[in-house]
This record gives sequence, structure tokens and C-alpha cells, in this order.
Amino acid sequence: MTATQLQTPPSRVSAATTARSDAASAASPASPVPGRRSGPGPLATLADAGLEVPVLGGGAVRHVNLDVAASAPAFDAVARHVARVLPYYASVHRGSGYPSQAATALVEDARATVARHVGARDSDVVVFTRNTTDALNLLATAVPGETVVLDVEHHANLLPWRGRRVVVGRPTIAATLSALAEELASRPAALLSVTGASNVTGEVLPIDALARLAHEHGARLAVDAAQLLPHRRVDLVASGVDYLAFSGHKAYAPFGSGALVGRADWLDAAPGYLAGGGAVESVRLDGAAWKTGADRHEAGTPNVVGIAALARALVELERLGADARHAHESALSARLHEGLAAQRGVRVIRGFDDADDRLGIATIELERGSVGLVAAALAAEHGISVRAGRFCAHPFFDRVASRANGLRASLGAGSSADDVDRFLEALARLVADGPAHEYERTPEGWCPRADDRPRISFD
Ligand SMILES: Cc1ncc(COP(=O)(O)O)c(C=O)c1O
Repeated sequence: MTATQLQTPPSRVSAATTARSDAASAASPASPVPGRRSGPGPLATLADAGLEVPVLGGGAVRHVNLDVAASAPAFDAVARHVARVLPYYASVHRGSGYPSQAATALVEDARATVARHVGARDSDVVVFTRNTTDALNLLATAVPGETVVLDVEHHANLLPWRGRRVVVGRPTIAATLSALAEELASRPAALLSVTGASNVTGEVLPIDALARLAHEHGARLAVDAAQLLPHRRVDLVASGVDYLAFSGHKAYAPFGSGALVGRADWLDAAPGYLAGGGAVESVRLDGAAWKTGADRHEAGTPNVVGIAALARALVELERLGADARHAHESALSARLHEGLAAQRGVRVIRGFDDADDRLGIATIELERGSVGLVAAALAAEHGISVRAGRFCAHPFFDRVASRANGLRASLGAGSSADDVDRFLEALARLVADGPAHEYERTPEGWCPRADDRPRISFD
């Protein structure tokens, strides 16, 4: 693509147009098995519903977003909420005007919504952050001792900890819990910090059992819920989890906000995460009196719109219902995994033999060929977004995979059976026959040699 190819963005089409383009794409090369689809449609309407993307050789197809685990599109309800609150956007906490009070109420109501959504204890604090990475880095400044983690972690839950001790996962979750117990018994640790679900395999870890394990050994449990929270019910009181970190952009609220929820004492004893206005009661030139609670770690002007969006997304998740979301994603996930199991030359990566609960995530490796090339061709020729790489979980990936990189397909509340089928069909074709166009390896990865897709511009 060149700068001279600037065009208007592909349309977000109406339902009627979508039906037409689906019918058209069912007969197109991207969808070679017309008429065989049935199964769940989307559970929720997302802001990208009906989006069309250009493909090589001209034309456009309905976009299939199977990269939801990286960043989920906004719920339509969230996008509408943001438009509704924007006129009231104003300074928070200090302004005297009506919009300022409305913005302050948005932030404080959102705090209450987050606390309710995750079943927080009355004494827990909800600190708004930029994302999960930020939330875990904040917690790392407050841990009064060593932290034990698993090697299955995303880098966000591997790198921040001072005094980090890593336990290598075993072939089963049961054996991994025993290994964690051994590690915690061998030397005191203040914190066990574990992912609620792997972003590589989608395997869900038993956070209630992990909380009991940590507590039996005098430690607390932090859960990286970046993947778990958007897909499963999470309840701090019921599970015993002490700290929870998550991101709005993975929970259908991509507006730059996340949260750390948990016990106040460590956070109140830690230095303010950011030094500045709002975090202090008073300042003299020779010192400052720091606040406690969320304020202590939220210096500066907060992301009011992002926080409002995050809270609205949680309300929408509740409206859809955790059981309905689970059932929807499980049905699609089963379809995805069955389809992958039937494909030659494709292997699904697993971390644990006994993981009986998996999010709608499948990471595969190919017997032959490059997953990066396949990912590029899925996008350029079939309008399907996936992700290739090691998913910011290098130690885990390197332990469980036999190739250098994997290709991840991930599902969410906006996914449909048609999405899964289009992916499976396109993958089978690419693995068997290779791409229909030529690609070259560039520093940015595989790219079509002659890319005639219009370059997008929002001007
Ligand atoms: C399990 C897990 N933890 C943490 C993160 C980091 O999330 P963020 O980039 O929103 O900080 C991710 C992102 O992919 C993730 O999947």
C-alpha cells in the first residue's frame, strides 16, 4: 500500500448489507462451502459488527475478528454510552461546575460498579490504571516480600516483581499446584501471582484452589484476570482472591482504562504509584502528607471516559450473563477445536493435560510453513484477523511449543459459528495449497508483494 492510495475507511454496513455480503462471501473463495453453516451467531453487538475489509485483488469481505484476546472491539452499548457522557466530560474532583460534578460521579460510580462486578470485599480498594500491566506494576511496588509466579504467565505478570520466584508448570494443573505448594513451603513468600487464564492456550486455572494454597502458606493471591474477567464470573469474596488486575480493552471497552482491585493495607503502606496532584492531602516544600485508598495511587487527571466505558462494559457483561457468555463461547470453542483437530499438519498447543475449562482461544503450530505467512494471508486474502508470534509469554511458549511461533485464534461475545467456519476453511486451504498471492518477509513481518488494498484514512 502506498500513501497515494488513501481512501475512505471500509463501511460499517447495515444488517441488510451484511446479510448480502455474507451471502456473497459464502460463494467467494474465502468461503468455499456454501450452505453448510449453522450454529451460534454473535451473542452481543459490538462496534465492529458488519465491518467490511478489503482483500487482495479487489473487493471486500465481512471482517472476521479472531484476535479478541489481544483487544476486543467495544460493545456497541459502550460506544453509545461514551457518546452520551462525552458532553459532560470535564475536570474531576476539583471543579465546581455541573459537568465537573457529573464527571466526578461517573468515576466514583464506575469504582462502585467495578467493586460490585468482581465481588470485592467492602474494605477492598479499586484503583483505576491504564491496563493490566499497569495494575500489576502498581501492585509490585506494594508487595512486602517475595512473589511466586508460574512460567505460564504473560510478561505483564512475570517482569514487574522484585524478589520473583518462578515455578515451572507441570504437565497437569494438579501437579502444578503441588509444585507451587512445595515452593511456598520451602521459603516464605508474600504473594502468589497467577494468571486466571492463559492467553496462549485459554486454559483456565482454579483461582479458588490457588487462593487456598496461598493462604495456607501465609501468602496472598493476585490474579492476572486480563483474559479471565471478560469471559468468566469472578468473585473476590467467593474465591478468596486478594488482588485482581484487568484491562478494559479486553473487556469490550477499548478506551485506555484498567483496574487493580484488592486489599487496602499493602497499597496504603506503599509509596504513591505516581507522585502528583490528587494523591496528597497537603504539600510543603520539605514533604507531603499522602492520602490512603485509591487516591494515593491515582495522581493526575484520570481517564474519565475510559473509566466510564470500562464500567459500562461490565454492566453489559452482567446484562448478557456470565452463564450465557460461557455457553456461547464454549459452543464456538468446541467447534473451533474440533475443526482444528481434524486438520492435517496443525497442532493445538496445550499447557496442561487436565485443564477442563478453556476460554475460546486456540493457538496452533504448523508442521510445515510459517504461521506468520498464514496469518498475513488470512488477513489479506480472507479478511480474517488472528495473531502470530509468542504472545508475550515467551518462557511458556518456548516450553510447550515445538516451533518458534504459533498462530492464535480467539473468540468473544461477538463471534459466530460463521466466523469459526470461515477461519477453518481458509486455514485448511492455506495449509494445503499455500497463499494465492505472493508475500515477502519485511521487518514488520510477512506482507503481500503487490498490495492493492486501499490504505485506510479517517480524514
Ligand atoms: C494474560 C494477560 N495478562 C496481561 C496482559 C497485559 O494486558 P495489557 O496489555 O492490557 O496490560 C495480557 C495481554 O494480552 C494478557 O493476555
